[in-house]
Amino acid sequence: MSDVSRKLLVVEDDEGLQRQLRWSYEDYEVITAGDRSAALAAVEAHAPPVVTLDLGLPPDPDGTSEGFATLEAILAAQPGTKIIVASGHGARASALKAIAGGAFDFYPKPVDIDELGMIVRRAYHVHELEAENRRLRAGGGSDVLGGIVTGAPEMLKVARMIERVATADVSVMLLGASGTGKELLARGVHQASLRAAKPFVAINCAAIPENLLEAELFGYEKGAFTGAVKTTEGKIELAQGGTLFLDEIGDVPLPLQVKLLRFLQERVIERIGGRKAIPVDVRIVCATHQDLEKMIAEGRFREDLYYRLAEIVVRIPSLAARHGDATLLAHHFLAKFAREHGRTFKGFTPAALAALNDWHWPGNVRELENKMKRAVIMAEHPLLDAADLDLGDQEPAQLTLKAIREEADRKAIRLALARTEGNVSTAAKLLGISRPTLYDLLKQYEIEG
Ligand SMILES: Nc1ncnc2c1ncn2[C@@H]1O[C@H](COP(=O)(O)OP(=O)(O)OP(=O)(O)O)[C@@H](O)[C@H]1O
Ligand SMILES: [Mg+2]
Repeated sequence: MSDVSRKLLVVEDDEGLQRQLRWSYEDYEVITAGDRSAALAAVEAHAPPVVTLDLGLPPDPDGTSEGFATLEAILAAQPGTKIIVASGHGARASALKAIAGGAFDFYPKPVDIDELGMIVRRAYHVHELEAENRRLRAGGGSDVLGGIVTGAPEMLKVARMIERVATADVSVMLLGASGTGKELLARGVHQASLRAAKPFVAINCAAIPENLLEAELFGYEKGAFTGAVKTTEGKIELAQGGTLFLDEIGDVPLPLQVKLLRFLQERVIERIGGRKAIPVDVRIVCATHQDLEKMIAEGRFREDLYYRLAEIVVRIPSLAARHGDATLLAHHFLAKFAREHGRTFKGFTPAALAALNDWHWPGNVRELENKMKRAVIMAEHPLLDAADLDLGDQEPAQLTLKAIREEADRKAIRLALARTEGNVSTAAKLLGISRPTLYDLLKQYEIEG
């Protein structure tokens, strides 16, 4: 790319700094703006691929409101723009908020010209890659997050968020119930990041016994303990340059939380029995289905570690809360497993589609995947009916009206709670009853609210 067209817009109200930045970036055509309207005019006139943005702009130079408004306005006018925000001393929280809002990355103030220069180069690089991808795909939708099937606005929002935060090297915490796609999204973060060519290493902290987890994460030297017959690299080291996915982070015992925190602060590890400090550069993505805030309050999870791990928090909606996705995913899995098993299906009966929509999916996408796998193997006809799906609401065992009504109540309540992610007030509205009535019913039917 020729240098003349490399436009860089610097949005900064400090004129001294404006001048300094202009001189420092002779490779770019630097355009400066001192406030929101000047910035928007410059975006209109020059379409700069990369923008640096000070969040403290007049008329709110000590706050961030004007900076955020400018961020939003630039992205609305020119969505592909890579915006790098300045985070003043102690303002990391607003920098992270800006990233969640679509900024490409942030740099700390006071400005280190070399460091900012590197981020700007990276932003150009990503911008060019994206332009290249668009040319190759010629109009197709986003396929960066490979494998994620959804048509639901609730989930598309999550996918967009993942794509946005992927390029900034921040830690990401994925919160979601079991089977919602945490691991799939963690891979998505990696694939959409600049680390995509480096390893993605996953470890499930709940699946490994407490006394082995440390060795698994940090590795060990030969002879460090009985059975340590040869020096072994831990998962952290194996992820060098790439992404480390810590699944079920809530299950890491407290002593190991301390070690993990030390690693995140110093970015070096020591293998068990080793004396050498080994520098490791990894991006951390975590996931849990546990309520970490509650665990912190109960002293079971370290708050300082939480803030290191959760610079960006992404909440993954349950399947029942994703409108239309149950049937969409059912078709997706039906096609996939039919192919794998060499069978042909015509699809679903209307009753089957209704059953898919009405089920509350406590096991989310994984449950749906398993149900479809089973159906493809077991079904006797090419058109799948509700009974083939085994959704657990077959003929009621008792035929008394009371039992049938109760079962219908239970089903509606479970579905309403699943659709509203357990929000009792909203679920009550959905059911057309008052909140206290719903609480009574929850107690009566022993359903967890
Ligand atoms: N949106 C989706 N589109 C297609 N497949 C999906 C989607 N979400 C999840 N899956 C598939 O469903 C299964 C469960 O997803 P995944 O393992 O990522 O979930 P999880 O939240 O990590 O689950 P668990 O809590 O059981 O570990 C996987 O086989 C995954 O490929
Ligand atoms: Mg998982």
